[in-house]
Amino acid sequence: MLTTNAIAPSIPVSDSKREIVRLNDVCKYYGQDDTLVKALDDVSFVIKEGEYCAIMGASGSGKSTCMNIIGCLDSSTSGQYFLDEQDVSHMQESDLAGVRNLKIGFVFQQYHLLAQLSALENVMLPMAYANVRPKEQKERAAIALERVAMGHRLNNRPNQMSGGQQQRVAIARAIVNNPVMLLADEPTGALDSHTTSEVMELFGELNASGITVIMVTHEADVARNTQRIILFRDGQILRDRLSPSDLNHAI
Ligand SMILES: Nc1ncnc2c1ncn2[C@@H]1O[C@H](COP(=O)(O)OP(=O)(O)OP(=O)(O)O)[C@@H](O)[C@H]1O
Ligand SMILES: [Mg+2]
Repeated sequence: MLTTNAIAPSIPVSDSKREIVRLNDVCKYYGQDDTLVKALDDVSFVIKEGEYCAIMGASGSGKSTCMNIIGCLDSSTSGQYFLDEQDVSHMQESDLAGVRNLKIGFVFQQYHLLAQLSALENVMLPMAYANVRPKEQKERAAIALERVAMGHRLNNRPNQMSGGQQQRVAIARAIVNNPVMLLADEPTGALDSHTTSEVMELFGELNASGITVIMVTHEADVARNTQRIILFRDGQILRDRLSPSDLNHAI
């Protein structure tokens, strides 16, 4: 495990840093006429390398829709999305799958580990898709698990681990291909407060080591660990660049 004390890390984000996410006037609509839902309504923002962002907002405000587009899991109705300075707005699904696997690490509320695989095998999976040799897969998976303090549980299956341990394995799986960013949708939603603190400390450490982190959360205490809060309302950005200390006034 890294040793930096990374609660509320504060890497200065200079203008020379590369743009990891750029959304230009992105809209996502569902249905039409009477049933039209503007899940995202003209959303624009830029997230630069090394930033640590929280996306907040009431239920139904568009947070997951936005994350799905940023994660190349869904495409927008209109607007442009540049991922790591490459326009991915009109990419075919087969190419998007490759971009996702190499550039993005995902962490979900329910971990999404494969029950029949060990921790080591779960973390090897993204490398198998990237055609890494099996010996190297094992070595890199073990290093990633070591990094999240799970090096002693390589052969355990998910049902032999606590929720917090499973989330650590999921985080190891998310970082094993050295992605340009980590996307996490409610990563602490299923965890108790003590385990939440441990997982947040881990995200902070990963960010301090240079990984861009974007996280959806309902919890103000979780968002306070980040550097920048983007607040959604009704599919639009209500506030951007909220600092954690402004949070009490804004929500
Ligand atoms: N597949 C879909 N078909 C129709 N409407 C959808 C679909 N997916 C999302 N929506 C609508 O889009 C809006 C935004 O949904 P989204 O899931 O992004 O909200 P959210 O902010 O993530 O909410 P929560 O905090 O509850 O997870 C909601 O009104 C939702 O009902
Ligand atoms: Mg959601």
